[in-house]
Amino acid sequence: MSSDNIILPSNKSTNVNPASAQQEAQSSQIIYKSEVMGQLIKMIDRVAASDASILILGESGTGKELIAKAVHEKSRRTNKPFVAINCGALRESLLESELFGHEKGAFTGAYTKKIGLAEVANGGTLFLDEIGELSPGIQAKLLRFIQEGEIYRVGGKDPIQVDIRLISATNRDLESEVMKGNFREDLFYRINTITAHMPPLRRRKEDIPLLINYFLEKGSHKHLNRGRQMSEDAMKVMVKYDWPGNIRELQNVCERLQILSEGHMIMPNDVPENIRNPDQKVVFDDYDPSLTLYELEKRYILKALSYFDGNKTRAANALGITIKTLYNKLHEYGEFDNFAVHSKDIVK
Ligand SMILES: Nc1ncnc2c1ncn2[C@@H]1O[C@H](COP(=O)(O)OP(=O)(O)OP(=O)(O)O)[C@@H](O)[C@H]1O
Ligand SMILES: [Mg+2]
Repeated sequence: MSSDNIILPSNKSTNVNPASAQQEAQSSQIIYKSEVMGQLIKMIDRVAASDASILILGESGTGKELIAKAVHEKSRRTNKPFVAINCGALRESLLESELFGHEKGAFTGAYTKKIGLAEVANGGTLFLDEIGELSPGIQAKLLRFIQEGEIYRVGGKDPIQVDIRLISATNRDLESEVMKGNFREDLFYRINTITAHMPPLRRRKEDIPLLINYFLEKGSHKHLNRGRQMSEDAMKVMVKYDWPGNIRELQNVCERLQILSEGHMIMPNDVPENIRNPDQKVVFDDYDPSLTLYELEKRYILKALSYFDGNKTRAANALGITIKTLYNKLHEYGEFDNFAVHSKDIVK
């Protein structure tokens, strides 16, 4: 493994994360060998030393929180707290007192004074996960906090100075939320001095084998693994799959394999059925260099057929091609026999 790029940040951060149902990552090692991750890590190395706010964008499970922690650990704030709060997990009033704290008697049930997480993070890093979920009221308060560097506890009159570095993350397209008026433009610019895009795992498949070996050796059930390894064929199956849940999904599957597979070698049959035979989705997010036009067309046509329950006339109509072209395509794909006769294939 020594030729691969593996970063081993120290493990000093405290993840105070009461508002998040997520489990804390077990370690903050970032495993990768892909060029695209290499570039990202280089960029993170450059910006970590500054106090610039960072917005981390990426699909679920791509490692946004892991990167946020790595930034903290490489910054001068490393010996101060890293505090993560999931903005999507609490309703507005609770989130406000969680974030900014409250004074005794501020509202019914506020029997004691409570220090907010922004204050707990003082001197360190505040990680606002799922920032796209913030309500307009909290967006306004957050903006004021970022601009003034001070907070007010709920029910409190005196401002409290707080020095934090802000890192935010979302799997939403925040720019279009700004266009739609759901997210304040001024706040968007404040949290977004630097943007980091986490590439989905399907765009960096060369990282998959490395991650699998890492999770098999280091996962939560490593005591059960007993040096079990993945066979070449099973590895091929795992690399071919598109991992819509990204690294989190890969990690879960590896943990299942640690527990469930029988022999010393993990064979393709040990791999869960949904990964061996995925329901192939046609994803049009953006360009995918691993997907040819031929393959895309094939998947799309087969999807149309299954959508119309095998009715070729309706599928051809919806696709805007003649039924003859559809037949030709099916022959070309070697799928003709699968769709040759269908009781519903009658024009209604
Ligand atoms: N490059 C990596 N090397 C090792 N582990 C990784 C890597 N990327 C992600 N992980 C692990 O995958 C899991 C998911 O990562 P993380 O929680 O950071 O993702 P996320 O983008 O915040 O996900 P979500 O959107 O679901 O909150 C964590 O357990 C994390 O430690
Ligand atoms: Mg997360």
